[in-house]
Amino acid sequence: MVPRCRIVADIGSDHGMLACRLIETGRAQQVIAVEKRPGPYARTRACVRARLGGEAPVSVRLGDGLDPLEPGEVEVVVLAGMGGLTIMDILRRGMDKLGPNTLVVAQPMKHADALRRWWQESGWRVTEEGQVEDRGRRYEVMAAMKPDAPGESFFRSFRCRAESR
Ligand SMILES: C[S@@+](CC[C@H](N)C(=O)[O-])C[C@H]1O[C@@H](n2cnc3c(N)ncnc32)[C@H](O)[C@@H]1O
Repeated sequence: MVPRCRIVADIGSDHGMLACRLIETGRAQQVIAVEKRPGPYARTRACVRARLGGEAPVSVRLGDGLDPLEPGEVEVVVLAGMGGLTIMDILRRGMDKLGPNTLVVAQPMKHADALRRWWQESGWRVTEEGQVEDRGRRYEVMAAMKPDAPGESFFRSFRCRAESR
């Protein structure tokens, strides 16, 4: 579900495999891998160095959720392998870091329904849903974009009204 793009953030990178795969497959030109725990942070750095070398276009950042990102810095945010409630919490606290076109790809290990419901109730646009199977286990994967900023939807309806006159 990650489209070919310039820059992706992998939140909760742990072993660093996704960050490496995104570069190796050419899916992303650049990756920001974020980890909140020092052990997995070191693991991600080691994985990137071993698989891609010292000049790899991967920035590994120690921090909580979307905190280490600049607003609008990435085109795609991946949150994989965490619970749906943790994913919700990270997105809620980091809404200002998502641009109007940032795609969020989530792979919740549990509470996928709660995440889906929160997205539906708060006006997120779910763009894709599916399941992947790995070693006999099915995982839910969902992609969505955050609701328009209030200013934007006001401006759009204002413009529609003005154009229909
Ligand atoms: C089970 S691993 C999943 C690893 C990988 N994303 C995957 O799908 O295989 C979850 C990782 O997310 C990290 N994590 C949990 N909450 C986080 C947060 N708020 N910010 C950054 N990393 C977080 C954990 O430290 C852990 O390394």
